[in-house]
Amino acid sequence: MTITADALTKQDEEQRGALVERLFHGGIAVLEMLSIYVGDRLGLYRALAQDGPSTAAHLARSAGIHERYAREWLEQQAVAGLIEVKTESPDADKRRYGLAPGHAEVLLNPDSLNYLVPIVWAIPGLAATLPALLQAYRDGGGVPYPAYGAEFRNSIASLNRPMFKNQLGSDWIPAMPDVDRRLRADPPSRVADVGCGTGWSSIAFAQAYPKVRVEGFDMDEASIATARENATKTGVENRVTFELRDAGSPGRAASYDLVTAFETIHDMADPVAALHAMRALVAPGGAVLVADERVAEAFSAPGDQLERFMYGWSVLHCLPVGRVDPPALGTGTVMRPETLRRYAKDAGFSGVEILPIEHDFWRFYRLEP
Ligand SMILES: C[S@@+](CC[C@H](N)C(=O)[O-])C[C@H]1O[C@@H](n2cnc3c(N)ncnc32)[C@H](O)[C@@H]1O
Repeated sequence: MTITADALTKQDEEQRGALVERLFHGGIAVLEMLSIYVGDRLGLYRALAQDGPSTAAHLARSAGIHERYAREWLEQQAVAGLIEVKTESPDADKRRYGLAPGHAEVLLNPDSLNYLVPIVWAIPGLAATLPALLQAYRDGGGVPYPAYGAEFRNSIASLNRPMFKNQLGSDWIPAMPDVDRRLRADPPSRVADVGCGTGWSSIAFAQAYPKVRVEGFDMDEASIATARENATKTGVENRVTFELRDAGSPGRAASYDLVTAFETIHDMADPVAALHAMRALVAPGGAVLVADERVAEAFSAPGDQLERFMYGWSVLHCLPVGRVDPPALGTGTVMRPETLRRYAKDAGFSGVEILPIEHDFWRFYRLEP
């Protein structure tokens, strides 16, 4: 194949043009995502929401930034359609800017399912790990989860938290009526939450089910420290505890009415060992719930937006974190239903049921011990 423009057909030229346009749009998207990071981290969106339509000078005073930067950022955000010009003026100093009514929730409401601003917090961690990532591509090794840093960890936690808060107790667990009944009943039930990260799923159980006791496990030290802080902050620390532990290590056998793993099996170096341990934890009559990415049943290219989103995480994060410590398997974000069924079978489960839960990002599997 030639890399010059010689002998291109009309169709080749159209493809070339489409790719040029796509990279250009991608460049704009990257620049604007980083400008959102600036606005979020410096509290500029919050200041606009609190103060109402603002001039650059007002925003600068309110948020404690330099006026020249405030002006440039406001102009850029307005040009990008991320904020609105509320009072037009040819004089840049007199122009007032504010948030569009529908945007405040996406940018500023951490409880909302539409809160998507944390996605930009992942960018610094993805960028900082690039040298290690390139090395991993060369030698087949991995990039440890902690290397992605605190902002990355908080990005995942803050993107997932609204789903746990708004959907776990009202949609997901009620899709298993026997489990829902057990979690409301006496004696108080026990939940083991494997790969719990910063603990928001464990906390959501305690908030949705007032009797339940939850133990969260994760092998990331910083996540467990934050999870403990989160339990205290939300006042559930008497019923929710966290422990630094590999999912594959044995715990209190046959002790839990429900064992869960939210968006974590595909990240694990040895998912079969983890599932094997989860099967051992569950009490007679109890249940195992795995929630993981809603990827397509099979590979096909080009893929839809969700598949592209999942593969994007996979090549930059999930595959490399799953390949630390050989013979780590490295599943990647794109764990197909068939792959999970195979892991579950290898871990000794007798069956896998896909629960009828409508969800944009996750698929819910009930594993039969
Ligand atoms: C994508 S995060 C999800 C965290 C949390 N479940 C949530 O939904 O917000 C994946 C988590 O899996 C944890 N993890 C990966 N391998 C693990 C293992 N072998 N044992 C325990 N935790 C593990 C990581 O430390 C990380 O906290």
